[in-house]
Amino acid sequence: MRPMFVFLVAKMVANGEVSERTYRGASVIELIHTATLVHDDVVDDSNRRRGFFSINALWKNKIAVLVGDYLLSKGLLLSIDNNDFDLLKIISIAVREMSEGELLQIEKARKLDITEEVYYEIIRQKTATLIAACCSLGAASVKPDSQDIEKMRRFGELIGMAFQIKDDLFDYGDEKIGKPTGIDIKEQKMTLPLIYVLNNASQKDKNWLINSIKNHNKDKKRVKEVITFVKENNGLEYAVERMKAFQAEALNILETYPESTYKSSLELMVNYVIERKK
Ligand code: IPE
Ligand code: MG
Ligand code: MG
Repeated sequence: MRPMFVFLVAKMVANGEVSERTYRGASVIELIHTATLVHDDVVDDSNRRRGFFSINALWKNKIAVLVGDYLLSKGLLLSIDNNDFDLLKIISIAVREMSEGELLQIEKARKLDITEEVYYEIIRQKTATLIAACCSLGAASVKPDSQDIEKMRRFGELIGMAFQIKDDLFDYGDEKIGKPTGIDIKEQKMTLPLIYVLNNASQKDKNWLINSIKNHNKDKKRVKEVITFVKENNGLEYAVERMKAFQAEALNILETYPESTYKSSLELMVNYVIERKK
């Protein structure tokens, strides 16, 4: 999905034209994305990815750390060897922000004091910045120094926000999505549905929720009860609403571009992010 954003944005802003830089940029993004997922499954102690065992499940954390680093360096070298330093800068900023987002998420999982504002900051950093990088890089690969770069960065950021809210909603379901569900609470990761419900619960329910997450997060039955509570108190509906607001804002930016097959494809991509089944 990420390389598709690179290509379609490049084509939309440059009337169908792409360059070797676009191809390299898309490749770097995919390498870096894969590297971060390999590391993320270590951080989240998760044993499945895309319907298969994660690297840490197969060969343990030591190997997964090194494989992630290897993929990261391969990506960076592809830019360096071809003097794509403007693209490298976009990508490096995304990598820094993703690490910051993951660290902030861990801090909040330890203190359990996350607010809705901080949640948005976490998902902006850990997920939205990479999709923002895809779109700004796509524009930069064909139109260096243009205003499209910043406009497309924002477009990608909004898509990324919607993408992660969708991902967090999947965790509340029991659909087969190629990775485990119901692990966020186990990891004491509080996402939008739970944050919303916490903000609107009575003091008694709040205490029960926080106590469940703090002291009973490995108790399957208790975690199920928390999930049921979130569902019964419209946590999922609220998250869907916020996700759609980000989607609408992204589509508004697209509307400022003239009609083209590339623009229509990007619209389909934005809608796919919201409607995807995995
Ligand atoms: C992963 O976030 C995003 C990265 C920065 C790699 P999550 O931990 O929420 O995503 P999944 O559910 O493992 O894919
Ligand atoms: Mg994670
Ligand atoms: Mg994860």
